Amino acid sequence: MAQDKLWGGRFDAPTDKFVEEFNASVDVDARMYREDIAASRAHAKMLGRQDILADDDVKQILQGLNDIEAEIECGEMQFTVALEDVHMNIESRLTDAIGDAGKRLHTARSRNDQVATDIRLYLRRRVNELLTRIHSLQRVLVTLAHEHADTIMPGFTHLQTAQPVTFGHHLLAYVEMLDRDTGRLLDARQRMNHCPLGAAALAGTTFPIDRHFTAAELSFNGPCRNSLDAVSDRDFVMELLSACSICAIHLSRFSEELILWMSAQFRFVELSDAFCTGSSIMPQKKNPDMPELVRGKAGRIIGGLVAMLVTVKSLPLAYNKDMQEDKFAIFDAFDQLEGCLRIFVDMLPGMAVNKETMRKAAATGYSTATDLADALVRAEVPFREAHAIVGKAVAHCIDADIQLHEMDISTCTAIDVRLTADLVRTLSVESSVAARNHVGGTAPVQVREQCAQWKTQLENADA
Ligand code: ARG
Repeated sequence: MAQDKLWGGRFDAPTDKFVEEFNASVDVDARMYREDIAASRAHAKMLGRQDILADDDVKQILQGLNDIEAEIECGEMQFTVALEDVHMNIESRLTDAIGDAGKRLHTARSRNDQVATDIRLYLRRRVNELLTRIHSLQRVLVTLAHEHADTIMPGFTHLQTAQPVTFGHHLLAYVEMLDRDTGRLLDARQRMNHCPLGAAALAGTTFPIDRHFTAAELSFNGPCRNSLDAVSDRDFVMELLSACSICAIHLSRFSEELILWMSAQFRFVELSDAFCTGSSIMPQKKNPDMPELVRGKAGRIIGGLVAMLVTVKSLPLAYNKDMQEDKFAIFDAFDQLEGCLRIFVDMLPGMAVNKETMRKAAATGYSTATDLADALVRAEVPFREAHAIVGKAVAHCIDADIQLHEMDISTCTAIDVRLTADLVRTLSVESSVAARNHVGGTAPVQVREQCAQWKTQLENADA
């Protein structure tokens, strides 16, 4: 019977069975039970303080909520789709347990401000957990970067050999990206951290509520200022999905590099067996499934962002049922991204780094050509001329199948008198990286300096 529903008063006929299932969100939102209970506690206390509810009712409600929380925690609570969502499941259980007092809890409240509060609380917690994982990955990267401050690898642009860089420097680039990911999450968390309670269905309530009290009880920065906005916007979900998407994109780029580096053509790194799988037909295969999967997860997370943007687009104010779809995308994004970060934290320390192969690769492809041009500039050749001279030298070396430093005196002079053998002899990948010794440069000294700074910053990160 529809009359059994918490909202069933004006209904005659029962809800269609499949509609009941289709309408329900409890499978997805049950995981917000802690937040739902916390918000109900704050609401009940406020109702008591404002003399909207009798002290005895509040006492019973608080005791009842504690019991339900314990019941859920030990897996004894039966959630049912007939009660649609986490909110009505808990409220109905409360009324079963304590009777009339339970029925009074929903005074001056609607599921609209309730869900808008719960999801903010829940996401606030998840952001904090995600940040902890991001910081762990940063720590792993900084340790690895310090270990490889002197390890030389080719730096690429257009995936063509560009200039030698240190592997530590390359790794620290990801630490920077993750730092901005952190900033975006903190920023979204801050903007989200306002309390919708009291907005009720959309217009507020006729009861003398204290919205500052409930906001403070739940550690929000304050109440949302506009009741319509409080219950109807999900911009914080979009922002968080966007921040998650960008972080996932960063991890996908790193994944792509690991996949390339592990190929037979690169052989820069080898991931440990624990993070790879074999082929059912090709006995020689060791596939980098984990970075591949992390790369793939970015698509799924971005899909969630797009779904959310499109869901909210053109929705009239205030609450619309469409918004129930918000949880699916954002919960999945957090779950998946946390998984990706965890994989990286666990996988990177066991990765073998083939320093010799990296160094050799860095020394091919005329990676020190810019250094030679710079040396000419120091000998007072204008940069554009220096560029042209070295260009000719590279063309000669490609033909002769030699490296720049292997050119003899006569070859140098034939290209340009200003190109001395001394200049080409001193070229090396070591001096190339060491020479880029300024803030943000690839020199080992700089990498070590940056690692030290990151170490200090990350020590206080989760405080
Ligand atoms: N389960 C709903 C959601 O997640 C709760 C809000 C329902 N409000 C309503 N007026 N039907 O969006």
